[in-house]
Formats: sequence, C-alpha cells, structure tokens
Amino acid sequence: EESEDRRPFRQRLLVVANRLPVSAVRRGEDSWSLEISAGGLVTALLEEPNPYSDDFFKGVKEFEARWIGWAGVNVPDEVGQKALTRALAEKLLNSANDVYRVLQKCIPVFLDEEIVHQYYNGYCNNILWPLFHYLGLPQEDRLATTRSFQSQFAAYKKANQMFADVVNKHYEEGDVVWCHDYHLMFLPKCLKEYNSEMKVGWFLHTPFPSSEIHRTLPSRSELLRSVLAADLVGFHTYDYARHFVSACTRILGLEGTREGVEDQGRLTRVAAFPIGIDSHRFISALEALPVQDHIRELAERFKGRKVMLGVDRLDMIKGIPQKILAFEKFLEENPNWRDKVVLLQIAVPTRTDVPEYQKLTSQVHEIVGRINGRFGTLSAVPIHHLDRSLDFHALCALYAITDVALVTSLRDGMNLVSYEFVACQDAKKGVLILSEFAGAAQSLGAGAILVNPWNITEVAASIAQALNMPADEREKRHKHNFKHVISHTAQEWAETFVSELNDTVVEAQLRTRQ
Ligand code: ADP
Ligand code: G6P
Repeated sequence: EESEDRRPFRQRLLVVANRLPVSAVRRGEDSWSLEISAGGLVTALLEEPNPYSDDFFKGVKEFEARWIGWAGVNVPDEVGQKALTRALAEKLLNSANDVYRVLQKCIPVFLDEEIVHQYYNGYCNNILWPLFHYLGLPQEDRLATTRSFQSQFAAYKKANQMFADVVNKHYEEGDVVWCHDYHLMFLPKCLKEYNSEMKVGWFLHTPFPSSEIHRTLPSRSELLRSVLAADLVGFHTYDYARHFVSACTRILGLEGTREGVEDQGRLTRVAAFPIGIDSHRFISALEALPVQDHIRELAERFKGRKVMLGVDRLDMIKGIPQKILAFEKFLEENPNWRDKVVLLQIAVPTRTDVPEYQKLTSQVHEIVGRINGRFGTLSAVPIHHLDRSLDFHALCALYAITDVALVTSLRDGMNLVSYEFVACQDAKKGVLILSEFAGAAQSLGAGAILVNPWNITEVAASIAQALNMPADEREKRHKHNFKHVISHTAQEWAETFVSELNDTVVEAQLRTRQ
C-alpha cells in the first residue's frame, strides 16, 4: 500500500479488447486455470514475462495500464464470476512458466452463452471477419446468414454495451481508453454517450475493406457512425485508412480531409499505425539453452532436407489449403526435390464453434492426408501438419532452422508471423514467401518473394525459386527485412498511437475553446 502511495502519478490506460490476454478454464466451482491467449493482438500488446516488472504493456510504460475483456468462457453463476475476477487479480496460475503479472491488471467482462453465440461466433466471426477479409458471407449459408443478421447485430450492440458498462465502472477522469478490433466497433459511441470527455481511440487489427465491400453490410452506416465517435481511429496501413475514409464519404456523405473525417465541425482523426513485434525478445531467445537444444534436435531430425514452415491460426484467411496445394504442385513438378524437402504446418485451432472453421479443419486434414499418401515413403512424409500451438521456445527454434517460410494469407491485417520469422533468421538468412494481400507485404515486400496465394502455379514456382536462391541474394533480401523488423517495434506502435490520441484530444479541446 505504502509503495503505491510513493509512486509518481501515472496516467491510466484502459485497453479494451474482446479477448483478455489470458483465457480461463474452469477446474472446479471456484477454481480456474489461466492460459495465454493466441493471436496477433495479444502478441502485440503483451510484455514478455518479467517477474521483476509491474508493467505488461509494451511501449506504454509511462501509463498505468488495465486490460478489459472476455476471458473466453461462459460463467453463468455469481460464485464463479467472483472467483474468476479474484483469480485474475491474484494471478493464480498453475503453469510453471506463466509468470505474467498481467493478471493483476485484467478486468473480466462476462458474456452469457447466447450473446457469445450471436455476437462472437455469429456477427464477429461469421460476418465481419470474412467480409473485412474480402471472403464474403459464408458460402453454403448465405440466406440463413442474411436472415439472422438483425438478431446478431442486436447481440453485437448489446455485447458492446456490456463492455462499455465495465469500462465506465472502472473509468477515472483523465484515463485514456484504447478500444481494439472489429468486435468493438460500437464501443466508441457507447463510451462517449456515458461521458463525452472520455479520450477514446479505436484501432482495427484486420484490413478495412474497400467501401464497395463495406457497403454491402446492412449495418454499414451505424457501424461507421459509432467508430467516428472516437477521437482517433487507427489502421495498419494507409490503404485501410483510405478505405475507411471513403466509406464515410460515400456511405455517410461526410467530408474526408487529410486529417480524417469531419462531421458538423467535429473531426475524427484517421491515420495508419503499422504494428511491429518485440524483435529483441525473439533474437535473445535464440541464445537461450532450451532453444539451442530444440535447434539441435530439429536440425538432426530433418538432416539432409530443406525445411519449409507455415505457422498460422487455423483460419480461412490464412490460405492454408491453397498453400498445401501449391506445395503439392511443386512436388509434382520437381520430382528431384521429393525426398529433400519437408513442409511443417503448425496450425493452432481457433473459433472452433463456428461451422466454417470446422469445415476448414477437415478440408486441411483431407488434403494433407491425400498428399502424404501420394508422395510419402515408408521412412518420410512430405507434410507434417500439427493442429496445435507451440510454446515460445519451440516456435523460435522452428523459425531459426527454417529455410523457407510460407505466409500465404488470402488477406491479413498485418501478419506478425512473417516478422517473427525474419527476426529469427539472422544466422540462416532463409527466404520469406509472402502473400501480396498481407499488410506486411508493404513493409517486407522488397525482401520477400511476393505471391498471389490464389495462384498455386505461381506459389509453386516461388517455392522452387526460394529453394534454389543463391546465398548472396538471400542475404540481400534478408538484410532488408531484418532492418525493418528490428526498427519498427510493437513498443513504438503502442507509444505512437497512445500519445497521438492524447494530443488529438488536447488539440480538439483547444479548437472548441477558440
Ligand atoms: P493473427 O493475429 O491473425 O493470428 P498474426 O500472424 O498477426 O495473425 O499473429 C499470430 C500470433 O500468434 C503470432 O505471434 C504467432 O507467433 C502466434 N501463433 C500463431 N499460430 C501459432 C501456433 N500454431 N503456435 C504458436 N503460436 C502461434
Ligand atoms: C486476430 C484478431 C484478434 C483475435 C485473434 C485471435 O488476431 O485480430 O482480435 O483476438 O485473431 O482470435 P480469437 O477469436 O481467438 O480471439
């Protein structure tokens, strides 16, 4: 208590995202175990485990941070809710390496099963996610999805209001509130209705599609208007920001300026803030003994073969079936490579209650089985497919021994896997094959081999090009990418967004006083 008092005053930052950085699993009536959640948003914001530090947000250390979000479980009873809130506050963890202090700073939002079904599985992951990635509505079920639109959108708004209630409960004057991602597009409006003085920023981790795509959404205007209630709106790339501004001008008839969007004299700042990774964390991990051990094991295991690697959430936007079919084509056309190359595809299951994701899993399994049956021998198979997530050390080792990484997203906001691979390749100087539809293509495009993931003939040819690339060219390409990855960090990204949000609000206050 005393040390709290002696601390210098720090402005508070409330990060609000659908998912907390930990997901909870219920072990008993009032006992919980907590696991670190997967995905780019968590990776970007979470500090590396450091038992000596009270901070858990990268780059925003001058702020006292809190993270408000859903713990990934339904907790209908009050006993469980209290116990989980306590477990988070007391950082009750059962896994040995989970020393994250974050848990003391996590505030859960409780969503009931029906809301999760309609808001998270339905509106967020069956409608907004595929649409923002240019995949349209789920194919088999277009009419049914169209029919359930209204009830799912109602649940979406209700869920956003529940997040707003929790934020409002914890809000103190002067706090900065940073809302994240497509789950919470309705949140800025709800927050400003509570308190028009609140400093509210919103950042989208996915692409924002062309306005021609966005305008097909029945709720297109309402979503745009509620995002515009924020003071600062951020995207990974300039193109996404431009798409958003033109959606506001074309659909809402508002004025787009170089600064953002103007509505009756009020300006919402819109800008690009490209995310990065904590490259130092990866580079220093490569020196750690357990990683070195992993590297030796893997090198031995795949001796005499080139290693190609894919690391993704098992999501349709990642283009996993397309990637595997391109690899098949490469094997078909290059019989001399068949026993000299292996593809390791590590795909962590995600959003498993959504039927589209279930279909994708069986599709991938079927293709992998077919290709291994076709090209495998008694001693080796060409594809190792794992439906799981790897721990940090194993992941670093895999990145380090890889010859060619394959990132073939059909669309991707940024894609941090490509950055992580580059960070771990300073010794090996492997090749990155990268989709031109990932945000990362704008930053790593000059070093990577860029491909259209829909064109498997082109991807197969790129695999051949990558495997045969002379060392000096690999070095030149790697150098370009490495320089970018180490100089554009997650810390800087968060810092820039939050300080710009602070400045934007101050400027707006000055303007209204004039
Ligand atoms: P997305 O946010 O769509 O999941 P990103 O590539 O931006 O895509 O971020 C994914 C994050 O999740 C990365 O930090 C990556 O290391 C991690 N990740 C993804 N798949 C796996 C996996 N199978 N095992 C371990 N970590 C994974
Ligand atoms: C992407 C989204 C994040 C999300 C993550 C994992 O990175 O931008 O908002 O948290 O995927 O997906 P999930 O649905 O499991 O939270």
